[in-house]
Amino acid sequence: MEAIEAIKSRRVQRGFSAREVEPDKLERIVDAGRHAMSARNLQPWQFIVVRDRTCLKKMGELCSTGRFVSDAPAAIVVLKNTENARWADVDCAQAVQNMAVAGWAQGLGTCWVGNFDNLKICEMLGAPVPWAIFTILPFGYSDPKRPPESRPLRPKKEMVHYERYGNPTA
Ligand SMILES: Cc1cc2nc3c(=O)[nH]c(=O)nc-3n(C[C@H](O)[C@H](O)[C@H](O)COP(=O)(O)O)c2cc1C
Repeated sequence: MEAIEAIKSRRVQRGFSAREVEPDKLERIVDAGRHAMSARNLQPWQFIVVRDRTCLKKMGELCSTGRFVSDAPAAIVVLKNTENARWADVDCAQAVQNMAVAGWAQGLGTCWVGNFDNLKICEMLGAPVPWAIFTILPFGYSDPKRPPESRPLRPKKEMVHYERYGNPTA
C-alpha cells in the first residue's frame, strides 16, 4: 500500500480475528518504529513483541481502556526511557504512529491503549528501571464482526491556513 493511502485510510481497530500474525510482519512493524524521528536522536524507546496468548490475556486485564488486548494475537509494548528524556513522550508517539501505519499497510490493525497498570505489566515483562510503559499496541487481522470504525474528521478549512491564519485558500 502506498504511504499516503495507508496514512489516510488507517482506522483504530479494537476487534481481532483469531488468525495468527506472521512474525516477519511484526518485524517490519517494529522496524518502522525504530526509524521514527527522535529529539537529539536519543531513540528513548524499547519494543517488546508479545505473542504468548496467556500473557496477552493477562495484559488486557491490566489495561482499563484496552481490554481488547486480551483478544489480539500479538502486541507490541512500547517502553519509554524515564531518565534524561525531555521529549520521550513525543518521540515514542512518533514511533507508535509509524508502527500503526506500517501495520495497516500490511493488513493489520491496532489501537493505542492509554490506561494500564504500568508496574504490574513491567513486572510481568521483566522491564527494568528506567523503562516505563508508554503504550501497548495490539496487532491483528480484523474481526469481520467488529471491523474498524470510521471517524469524523474536522473539516480541513477549520485547521489549514495559507500564508496567514484564517486564510483557507492556497
Ligand atoms: C494518545 C492516545 C490515547 C488513546 N487511548 C485509547 C484508549 O485507551 N483506548 C481506546 O480504545 N482508544 C484509544 N485511543 C484511540 C482513539 O480513540 C482514536 O485514535 C480516535 O478515536 C481516532 O480514531 P482513528 O485513530 O481511527 O482515526 C487513543 C489514541 C491516542 C492518540
